[in-house]
Amino acid sequence: MNTSTGTHEGRTALVTGAGQGIGQAIAMALAKRGARVIATDLAAPDATVSKIGSNAFALQLDVTREEDWRSVLLQSREIGDVDIVVNNAGYFPHRLIDELDLPTWRKTMATNLDSHFLSVKYFLPAMREKKWGRFIGISSNMVGLAIPGMSHYIASKMAIVGFMRGLANDVAGDGVTANALLPGLINTLATASQSDEQKRSTWEQQAIKRLGEPEDITGAVLFLTSDDAAFITGQALVVDGGQYRVG
Ligand SMILES: NC(=O)c1ccc[n+]([C@@H]2O[C@H](COP(=O)([O-])OP(=O)(O)OC[C@H]3O[C@@H](n4cnc5c(N)ncnc54)[C@H](O)[C@@H]3O)[C@@H](O)[C@H]2O)c1
Repeated sequence: MNTSTGTHEGRTALVTGAGQGIGQAIAMALAKRGARVIATDLAAPDATVSKIGSNAFALQLDVTREEDWRSVLLQSREIGDVDIVVNNAGYFPHRLIDELDLPTWRKTMATNLDSHFLSVKYFLPAMREKKWGRFIGISSNMVGLAIPGMSHYIASKMAIVGFMRGLANDVAGDGVTANALLPGLINTLATASQSDEQKRSTWEQQAIKRLGEPEDITGAVLFLTSDDAAFITGQALVVDGGQYRVG
């Protein structure tokens, strides 16, 4: 996004998995729009924060660990009550169903799904007091595609859509919205192992025929976390250049 108006001035935004890839791009875009950003990752994402500058803070947060969420809540109070949570951290190992074991299943669910529940548990109360808040869950367009070896991932990413739909009902009276974003294939370290041919075979299925970049996801996040999107909640927005089309 090149627009740099202050749509997010006065807001504090927490982004998980902000050390690289899509999470880093989201953190940078929110800061550019004026938000104070709490960038979090397995290790405190200092590189992201130094790219942003003075309006950002790096905190360690393993999204699977409730004690980390509690600790980040306490530390964030020194920075400002969190108005916006973008749950972006993800775990996506390829496992055909015969290779999938219970620890991998559970780690997928803990990273991709428990995190959303825990973020609500710790950050909803302050949003309720302010009568304003935004939860964004980064899902995946893979929930609607025929990709083998990802049943655990697809289950967790579809559950994010369900959780946001349900959450939207419970928080609507408090000025809080909850929406899921479904990116398509994006050029990050997570997809670096795919060959150019593999990537091309995906992006050729899109209306917009190029590989997505992390910055392609940020516009939807900025919109859904702004005042302009106050009447949009419980939705699943696909951001994939037109590959997967929901009716
Ligand atoms: N890249 C794609 O093609 C694509 C497509 C659709 C959806 N997504 C989703 O977008 C999100 C980001 O993907 P990406 O490509 O930027 O991934 P990435 O691997 O480049 O970055 C993910 C970040 O999450 C962090 N992380 C992993 N486990 C964590 C945990 N337990 N606690 C805290 N942080 C943790 C990693 O350290 C890393 O910095 C994921 O949820 C992914 O499922 C990605």
